[in-house]
Amino acid sequence: MRWERGLLGAGIIALLAGSVSGQTRDIDGRSMAPFQPAGKATVLLFIQTDCPISNSYAPEIQRICKAYESRGVGCSLAYEDVRVEAPAVRKHLKDFSYSAIPATIDSSRALAEAMVDGIDLRQPGRIVELGPGTGAFTAAIVERLGVDTQFLAIDIDPAFVREIQKRWPQVQCVCASAEKLQALVTHRGMGPIDHIVSGLPFVSLPPTMTREILSNVSSVLRPGGTFTTFQYLHGYGLPPAVNFRRSMTAHMTAAPSVRLVLRNLPPALVLTWKKG
Ligand SMILES: C[S@@+](CC[C@H](N)C(=O)[O-])C[C@H]1O[C@@H](n2cnc3c(N)ncnc32)[C@H](O)[C@@H]1O
Repeated sequence: MRWERGLLGAGIIALLAGSVSGQTRDIDGRSMAPFQPAGKATVLLFIQTDCPISNSYAPEIQRICKAYESRGVGCSLAYEDVRVEAPAVRKHLKDFSYSAIPATIDSSRALAEAMVDGIDLRQPGRIVELGPGTGAFTAAIVERLGVDTQFLAIDIDPAFVREIQKRWPQVQCVCASAEKLQALVTHRGMGPIDHIVSGLPFVSLPPTMTREILSNVSSVLRPGGTFTTFQYLHGYGLPPAVNFRRSMTAHMTAAPSVRLVLRNLPPALVLTWKKG
């Protein structure tokens, strides 16, 4: 179990044969179909060139992939750095002795773009990001941020908060649970919020936590303010995802607009609610 806990630092998705469709390309342009495993399953390992946790597990990742190969389980690496290019990935594969494991660059940039699409941050305003994690959406927000727009990011994990603070000193990033959103906003005198972008994994959070967060979200948003999150296509019809959408729609008193992002790995749906 030790390695399983450790691998959570790298991020893994196990895909069973036939469960999801979708194609991508490896770093040399060859077609890859991680969602249509040739054997029993494919394990997608989300890593970064500069992530000390996933780098420290490189030998373990390789050992596990080799051990499971004969049992019909394949591995693929997905580099999820926001701006990494193929030459940096090739160097990383060489430096950490990855061989014979297909590698692709996660197209989460497409998801990040879709998450902030339509939000005009050049105008003075207030935006909050919940669960910035490694900063894929943060980067897209920072790129568009006008000088008079306040930006608060909230993550429960101190390691992510430290990284965000180091990378974007201009972003107010606090280590707290999103359940405290209203208090954090009030404490900073940020007033009603125009936009909330969320990377929180709502389908796996305890229901009481989700309820508290949603109630905070609807309290701090101004009328007409937006809440944007995403759900993976393969889980969209499952009860936790459906229940989340129902609760959010009840809070916001309007149904979300939905946009499919096929280029993400795995494909995702971006959902935006406008507060009624
Ligand atoms: C899926 S990850 C974020 C994905 C993000 N877009 C990225 O680029 O990494 C979810 C994030 O939510 C954070 N999180 C989970 N529960 C939280 C909570 N109750 N309050 C704030 N952050 C939370 C986790 O620490 C993690 O950083």
